[in-house]
Amino acid sequence: MSTSWNDAGWGMLCAPLGGGEGGGAILEPETAAVGLRHKHLLGLEDYGADEITLILDTAESFLEVLERPIKKVPTLRGITVVNLFFENSTRTRISFEMAEKRLSADTVNFSASSSSTQKGETLRDTAANIEAMKIDAVVMRHSAPGACLFLSRCLESVIINAGDGAHEHPTQALLDILSLRRRLGDLRGKRVTLVGDILHSRVALSNIYGLQKLGAHVQVCGPAPLIPRHIEELGVEVYWNIEEALENSDVLNVLRIQLERHNAHHFPSLREYHEEFGVTMDRLDRHASDELVILHPGPINRGVEISSEVADSGRSIILEQVTNGVAVRMAVLYLLLGGKTREH
Ligand code: CP
Repeated sequence: MSTSWNDAGWGMLCAPLGGGEGGGAILEPETAAVGLRHKHLLGLEDYGADEITLILDTAESFLEVLERPIKKVPTLRGITVVNLFFENSTRTRISFEMAEKRLSADTVNFSASSSSTQKGETLRDTAANIEAMKIDAVVMRHSAPGACLFLSRCLESVIINAGDGAHEHPTQALLDILSLRRRLGDLRGKRVTLVGDILHSRVALSNIYGLQKLGAHVQVCGPAPLIPRHIEELGVEVYWNIEEALENSDVLNVLRIQLERHNAHHFPSLREYHEEFGVTMDRLDRHASDELVILHPGPINRGVEISSEVADSGRSIILEQVTNGVAVRMAVLYLLLGGKTREH
């Protein structure tokens, strides 16, 4: 199975997902009525700046709901969402489930390890059987790039991508962007550097698409084997040296080394990676502006891509990202499914 941009994801970049079909560029009257042109959220590649801004603005309203003593609204009463996770997750899975419950949707959680996929059932059959129980939406994480696009072609339900291999993780990028917008305001012209394992990162690709659409200047930094070939064609600037990247950044989004997706040795050891590219307080003090904002999508490997001192410092907005994630997922669910409650 392909797990990196070079062996599959990069091919996707060269041949975008179905020229609009991938993002589900299908005008559904019920979704169009509340503002999104797409039926699904498969990625940010073909979402417009207006749609991204609408999701962020809607998430701001839900952040206010999450501050209330009773953090629940009846918006999606009668809607059923299945969370179909074929890969491990802490933040995304709990955040989606919480968002669904806060919106009063009925939720069902699926875990591949305890399902009949262990007996050889295919993804198509698993999903079709679940849909036959009358559901409205599937939130899916899968190790295969394009798995959510595949599902959108098999089912009638709304599909939301919670991470497909090394391809996209759109709600992570949306929560990263919301967190930055709340800190920095307008992102036009802001220099955002993604540092680390860009090659195997779905977070990187979704951030590149989303940030560029809002006018930010996106840069990547990491060891050469972990930077996808031809990435400059996406309009991204490449830094091979972390100190230079820090000197030219307003934001650093630190990505984990995804050893579980590596099928070759890309650097000698994690200790050497930390020495060359680790984000440490000493590096920040010597090379970064005092205003530099640090993000990390999690899970963190302390002492590898980031030191504990930096992760827990005032520059880091890692836990704000997690809080904002619930509101972003509420916004996505509301905008894609809100019309269905009217239909009911
Ligand atoms: N950021 C993120 O996707 O974390 P999880 O793998 O815990 O969901």
